[in-house]
Amino acid sequence: MSPDSPYPEEERDLELAQSLCDFLQECPSPYHTARALGLRLEAAGFSRLVEGEPWFIRPGGRYYVTRNGSSIVAFVVGDGGERPYFSIAASHSDSPTFKVKTVPELAGPGDYVRLNVEGYGGIIERSWLDRPLSLAGRVMVERDGEARCMLFAPDEDLLLIPSVAIHQDRNVNNDGSLNRQVDLCPLFLADGRSKGSFVGMLAKRLGVSDAQVLSHDLVLVNRQRPTVWGNAEEFVSGPRLDDLQCAFASLEALLRARDSQSTKVLACFDNEEVGSGSMQGALSTFLPSVLERLCESLGMGRSEYVRAIYNSFLVSCDNAHAVHPNHPELYDDGNRAWLNRGVVIKESASQRYTTNAVTRAFFTMICRRAGVPTQTFANRSDQPGGSTLGNLLMRQLSMRSVDVGLPQLAMHSSYETAGVCDTAYMVRALREFYSSDYSFDADESFEIVNG
Ligand code: CO
Repeated sequence: MSPDSPYPEEERDLELAQSLCDFLQECPSPYHTARALGLRLEAAGFSRLVEGEPWFIRPGGRYYVTRNGSSIVAFVVGDGGERPYFSIAASHSDSPTFKVKTVPELAGPGDYVRLNVEGYGGIIERSWLDRPLSLAGRVMVERDGEARCMLFAPDEDLLLIPSVAIHQDRNVNNDGSLNRQVDLCPLFLADGRSKGSFVGMLAKRLGVSDAQVLSHDLVLVNRQRPTVWGNAEEFVSGPRLDDLQCAFASLEALLRARDSQSTKVLACFDNEEVGSGSMQGALSTFLPSVLERLCESLGMGRSEYVRAIYNSFLVSCDNAHAVHPNHPELYDDGNRAWLNRGVVIKESASQRYTTNAVTRAFFTMICRRAGVPTQTFANRSDQPGGSTLGNLLMRQLSMRSVDVGLPQLAMHSSYETAGVCDTAYMVRALREFYSSDYSFDADESFEIVNG
C-alpha cells in the first residue's frame, strides 16, 4: 500500500492489524475478552462446555470453557496416537486500569460528583489524565427473583480525570506524582443535585430500575480508538495491547492450525496483572481441571494423564518491552528487542520466565520452520523487570515451557504501541507450534515432525 514500506506485504499484514484493532475495541474488560474469544470460537465450530456439567468429548472435537466469565480455555482434541499430549499457548485477558468501588460517588466539592476508584495492576497513572473515559465490565441485575449477569460497555464518553492547570501546579513537569485517592478520581457529574446517581446511570443504560441493580465489577476504559499509523503504516497503537495482542494472535493461530496428534489448547486468564491468585487466574485449578477432565472423558487413566502433561509444551505469551526510542540505556546490551523484528523469547535466571536452553531451542526451531524471526529479551542485570503467568502455571501444570511475547512500547500505559508485522509473526509462529508434532526424550533432546 505505502510506497515507503520497507516491509514485505505478507509481514505488514494490514488486514490482520485492522482485525486486531477491532478486537481491542470489542474487549474493554476481561469479561468482554472471554466473550469475544468465545463468539469467534463458536463461529469456527467450537462447542461450549460448562464446568458444572458432565462432558462428553470426542476425538477431533473442538470445545471451549469459561470460568468467571473472564478466563477461557479452548481446545481441539488431537488424534493422540500412542502418546497423547497438549500444545498450549497461554495469554491474559486483563489489563491495568482502575476499578470502580461499590459505593462510588464522591459528592463535592460544590456540585461536582466524582467516582471513587481503586488501582488494578501496575498503572502508568498520568496516561489516564485528560482523555474521554468510559466504563466496562459486568452488572448483576435482579429480574423476577433471579439475578442475571449482564455485560456493560456503553459506547459513550462518560468520565474524565482532569489535570491540575500548570498555573496551580508549577511543579508538574518536575515532580508530577499523583495520589490515587486524591488526584485520580474521575469526574462524573458537574451538577450532582439534578442528574441522578451512579446506579441510576447503570440502570438507565441496562433498561432496568435502580432497585434491580444488585452489584457491579466495572473498570475505567480509555476511549481513544486503536490506530495503525506511521509513514509506512508500521505501528499499531491502542489500549490493552498487553496482552490482547497475544490473545488475538493465539486465537488466529488456533483457527488456522493444521491437524496434528497433539491436543491444541488456547488459555487466556484473568487477573494476571494482580498476581493470578483468583479462582479464574493462572494459579487456579482452571486449566489443570479442564485438561484432566478432557483426558478422563477420552478414557485415559490417571497415569496416562500425568504422562500426557509431562509430554506437553506451554508457550506463555505475554508482551515484551521494545527498546524505547528516547531511552536505549534502559535495556540490556545484546538481549534487547525492537518493533517489527519478530517474536521475543524472554529469559530470566531467577525463573520469572520459564525459558531454558531446551525450550528456547524448541521454539526457535518452530519459528524457523514458520519463517518467523526471533529476538531475545533479558532485563538489565540491575533491574528486576516484570513477571507473567508462565512460571505461575508451572505450580499446577509442570511441563516444558517458554516465555515469549511481542515487542511493545509504553507497557501499562492506557494507550500502548506495537509493530504491525509482529502480530503476523506471532500468528505464524503459534500456528506452526499448534500444527507440529514433537517428542522430547529423557535427556532433553527432541525432534519436531509434521510441522
Ligand atoms: Co502482560
